[in-house]
Amino acid sequence: MTVESFEAKLAADKKIEPNDEMPDEYRNAALRMMKFHASSEIVGAIPEAEWIPYAPSLFRKRVLIAKVQDEVGHGQILMRVVEDLGCSREQFIQDILDDKAKYLTVFDEEYESWADIGMIGWLGDGAEIERQHTLKDASYGPYARAMHKIVYEEAFHYSQGRDLIATLMQGTKAQRDMVQESFNKWWWRAMVLFGPHDSESTHSKVLMNFKLKIKSNDELRNLFLNKFVPRIKKMGLEIPDQTLQYDESKGSWKYKDPDFTIYKNSKSLPSHQRRLKFLRQSYETNGWVRRLVELDNIPKAL
Ligand SMILES: [Fe+2]
Ligand SMILES: [Fe+2]
Repeated sequence: MTVESFEAKLAADKKIEPNDEMPDEYRNAALRMMKFHASSEIVGAIPEAEWIPYAPSLFRKRVLIAKVQDEVGHGQILMRVVEDLGCSREQFIQDILDDKAKYLTVFDEEYESWADIGMIGWLGDGAEIERQHTLKDASYGPYARAMHKIVYEEAFHYSQGRDLIATLMQGTKAQRDMVQESFNKWWWRAMVLFGPHDSESTHSKVLMNFKLKIKSNDELRNLFLNKFVPRIKKMGLEIPDQTLQYDESKGSWKYKDPDFTIYKNSKSLPSHQRRLKFLRQSYETNGWVRRLVELDNIPKAL
């Protein structure tokens, strides 16, 4: 396929497949975006896995284990997409271990209470669903198809988070206060999660030109607010932004900007360093499993 036919395919909203010829700019943009997503799924599972021993009941423990397993599974699916685009699995994992991988930096933060575990599902996965739902129409075929399975499972993550928060909100005053305190942090985290404003996001423009990204950061943030502001009020929580207001004439929300630089130094956080150490140790400890499943290492007689 020539570059011209690549452009014709893109213009006709046809999918680009791994064996199609594609310009280097497209491959690099896709690789950057999909590595970011795959790394986010894998690194994002760790802070939640840390909370499994502290789940307050067997039911909640089972639900959290299932969620963590899903997230790692999403990482595995996306690692295959990344491999097809030209980055080996070994390199992908090495980048995480060398602390070079880029991912949603919210996962570097400490999760301080059980309510934080509910918030990551309700608000965090809820926000991600807004973005990932649109990516079912992304131009790169394997990624768009992966989104169908992933979004389906993210809906379960959202529901378990909502159920956890709703349960706490029906509990004692101390439990409701814990939720409000957690929400005061997660509101800003969710707002940051969509990325900088469109006017400041150069990567976003490139991705949108290639139809790898379907809606802009500001459009997605607005869609999130449309859905979540009524849900938050119904939950009985107070939004920590007094300026938040729906502008009827523009059909969009006015809000106080989150601090987009909040995670600039997230790699120096003790929680990030602790998780990195855990990842490196796990890679080392589980090395024998990798060596065992490498077919070349199985003696011929077996
Ligand atoms: Fe996920
Ligand atoms: Fe999720």
